[in-house]
Amino acid sequence: ASEAEEKDLVIVGGGVAGYVAAIKAGQSGLKVACIEKRGTLGGTCLNVGCIPSKSLLNNSHLLHTIQHDTKNRGIEVGDIKLNLDVMMKAKDTSVQGLTKGVEFLFKKNNVEYIKGTGAFKDEHTIAVNLNDGGETEVKGKNIFIATGSESTPFPGLTINEENVITSTGAIALKKVPKKMVVIGGGIIGLEMGSVWSRLGSEVTVVEFLGQIGGPGMDQEISKQIQKMLAKQGMKFKLNTKVTKGDASAESIKINVEAAKGGKEELLDADVVLVAIGRRPYTAGLGLENIGLDVDERGRLVIDQEYRTKIPHIRAIGDVTFGPMLAHKAEEEGVAAVEFITKNYGHVNYNAIPSVMYTHPEVAWVGQNEQELKAQGVKYKIGSFPFSANSRAKTNLDTEGMVKFITDAETDRILGVHIVGPNAGEMIAEGTLALEYGASAEDVGRTSHAHPTLSEAFKEAAMAAYGKAIHY
Ligand code: FAD
Ligand code: NAI
Repeated sequence: ASEAEEKDLVIVGGGVAGYVAAIKAGQSGLKVACIEKRGTLGGTCLNVGCIPSKSLLNNSHLLHTIQHDTKNRGIEVGDIKLNLDVMMKAKDTSVQGLTKGVEFLFKKNNVEYIKGTGAFKDEHTIAVNLNDGGETEVKGKNIFIATGSESTPFPGLTINEENVITSTGAIALKKVPKKMVVIGGGIIGLEMGSVWSRLGSEVTVVEFLGQIGGPGMDQEISKQIQKMLAKQGMKFKLNTKVTKGDASAESIKINVEAAKGGKEELLDADVVLVAIGRRPYTAGLGLENIGLDVDERGRLVIDQEYRTKIPHIRAIGDVTFGPMLAHKAEEEGVAAVEFITKNYGHVNYNAIPSVMYTHPEVAWVGQNEQELKAQGVKYKIGSFPFSANSRAKTNLDTEGMVKFITDAETDRILGVHIVGPNAGEMIAEGTLALEYGASAEDVGRTSHAHPTLSEAFKEAAMAAYGKAIHY
């Protein structure tokens, strides 16, 4: 970076929030630089998160299907073997292709990419420790903090990413563990637990709450997916907390007890996955040099235009409020740039979908039943099982349902919850419906191609204001 030149925008962090903001800024004609220390772009999501986990989920699902679900389809296969090394290489190929792709997009959109660690020197200057050695400084009229998050550690269990692992170790194990204990039955625990369970581990998930999938997942849906995952071989201990762990010997000991106190138990495992949530990451950023604080959960405090209390410094993505999701980070990257270039940006936080990529997938958008009950909102439910959907039947993949929750008076859609094949793709329609303020009848009167899984979506909507035809 040339020290003299002041950029219109300097972004610290080249994850989804940062790289998307950088591209948008470049497209908008701003002079922009993005500082990333990892050596590759795309952040947690592309390097060690969304992308590698989905590669392993997809390929482990294929293996599981071939092992357990071919005979009844008239497909006879011979010896089936896992080659974990090749499965990991396939994952790495996907990751490399995508991170390089972002680098190409930087060039195409005139984004200066600075490989190094950035820290605030003053309110307009970032000092960069370059990865290749040496230092530089870069000045910005505007600065975005997009430094993301890291996994929350579990006290007493030191992560080594070999047998005491976070998701980063879980996407790179060199052999299939015999026994894996997963601390936390949230999205990471269930996705990575699924991968290793399918590859042959005996997986036990310990979850503090009374349901898996986190509090955003509709309770009815959570119960259903738990049954399905249990059928696939995963074990669950709900309402149970891990009190301590001892990884000093090869066989790791995990002490658990009932969440409300009482019954204790000792579990053993050869790998333990810590998946109790993620926390914002601002270490070494020099926030103290400019007097910026974080809240009690480590988040940078911002206003509706993503401004910190120093208005030309904004924060986006996992480092600030809201769900820690890549597509949320991406929306914020675009909106934050638009606040600079147009004084207007927009993200609808009520219409951000969530997807859990197990098999079947779970996807939802808007509010769930337990939230609406707590708020005293009067609602209606319309649901439709995939077992009554023609395409699911031809695919011999009929587990799950679509569930609409609508305002009892107006029929406006308040939430859509799906557990079933392809739920993650199907939720886009629910998100669009919510974004446009649609009623269930709007969806129910829209033609959906036959035979598709989406017909279950339409029929669940029909059930919310009237009756489904096929159930
Ligand atoms: P990050 O992606 O964490 O990027 C921040 C970047 O900033 C990092 O690359 C870091 O190296 C860099 N950085 C930090 N400090 C500095 C500094 N001082 N100087 C220079 N660079 C710095 N979300 C989904 O929507 N769908 C999924 O399927 C999904 N799967 C996931 C699976 C796993 C295993 C994990 C862990 C997460 C998953 N997520 C998923 C969440 C998603 O990865 C995050 O929400 C997303 O990456 C947030 O983007 P971000 O840009 O805010 O932060
Ligand atoms: P999470 O917050 O989803 O789940 C953590 C779970 O651990 C909670 O259910 C919590 O009750 C439980 N827990 C906490 N302490 C515990 C203890 N001592 N004993 C037992 N259980 C305990 O966090 P997770 O799964 O680590 O994921 C982090 C973030 O990454 C999430 O915010 C998620 O949005 C994102 N992510 C998104 C994915 C997706 O969109 N498909 C995939 C993976 C991650």
